[in-house]
Amino acid sequence: MNAPLTPYSPASPADTLRAALAGLLDGLPPTQAARAVDRLIASYRGSTPTDAPILRDRADVAAYAAYRMPATFEAVRSALGALADAAPQGWAPGSQVDVGGGTGAAVWAAADTWAGERPVTVLDWAEPALALGRELAASCHRLASVKWQRSRIGAALTIESTDLVTVSYVLKELTPDDRRAVVDAAARSASENGAVVVVEPGTPDGYERIIEARQRLVDAGFHVAAPCPHSDACPIEPGTDWCHFSARVSRSSLHRQVKGGSLAYEDEKFSYVCATRFVPEPVAARIVRRPQIRKGQVLLDLCEAEGGLGRETVTKRHGPLYRAARDADWGDGWPPAQ
Ligand SMILES: C[S@@+](CC[C@H](N)C(=O)[O-])C[C@H]1O[C@@H](n2cnc3c(N)ncnc32)[C@H](O)[C@@H]1O
Repeated sequence: MNAPLTPYSPASPADTLRAALAGLLDGLPPTQAARAVDRLIASYRGSTPTDAPILRDRADVAAYAAYRMPATFEAVRSALGALADAAPQGWAPGSQVDVGGGTGAAVWAAADTWAGERPVTVLDWAEPALALGRELAASCHRLASVKWQRSRIGAALTIESTDLVTVSYVLKELTPDDRRAVVDAAARSASENGAVVVVEPGTPDGYERIIEARQRLVDAGFHVAAPCPHSDACPIEPGTDWCHFSARVSRSSLHRQVKGGSLAYEDEKFSYVCATRFVPEPVAARIVRRPQIRKGQVLLDLCEAEGGLGRETVTKRHGPLYRAARDADWGDGWPPAQ
């Protein structure tokens, strides 16, 4: 008699990435890893943009990957989830180019969002980042054929035609001219069926860079698929607030060592825009703050397709809608899909 078959359940790209990143620091004394992270944080705090890569060697990129990649992965994963929700049913990118992709967080995020394999190219000027990206991707068979290509973002940047262009946590490192150049190159390269996704830290200046990129994409004929419920101007008065969201990230032992404390997770704040050449189905409204749960009611701060920013109070009297509001999260569409 044959032995019963064990069902084959491949690990998700998110789990595979987590395991690959955990292995990265094996054998590296914890103090050395923490020192590399400190050095990296100092370079990122310094005067950016720079005219040479910040990620200069293997220690820099290993520190970046172990310390920041889990967070940039989760932020991009969240943005791509919103794009998938707004795209017509069955839409999946047939190809991806990740610009300033570094160690490939956005490539892993796309693999975690859409099943199957697709041609993918990662462009970056830092060779050590590309090398480590290639090494990490070797642990996921779906990413085995990704091309890791050295390329400098600037006026001369050209991107091959593709269905999905990702630009995550890159604009901050560029001069204003290069920022415009990368967004325009992304817009030119997106196919008729294509999308451009830009993600930045969820800070006031990150939001400003997103708003500028969003406007350039709209001017180039794109539709805003997420997070906004429309492609009109953002209703936030400049300088008064900033649109951002939050993604939960498990903390590694390296995080705990660098940041102290014993929390098992931290929240990565990010701003983003997903713009499409095709007509999307954006949400009617999006929850733009953490919902406030009070006795018998939930307060939702919304950005609405009709009416801009506003607050909705959902009470027990609303029955199933109240239960949905209690489960709703910052960044979700509202009302929930049927
Ligand atoms: C903060 S990292 C983000 C990496 C990755 N996209 C992510 O989300 O984790 C910024 C990346 O942009 C790249 N970069 C910065 N300026 C660049 C330029 N002018 N040309 C090409 N790559 C650049 C850096 O080398 C680095 O890999």
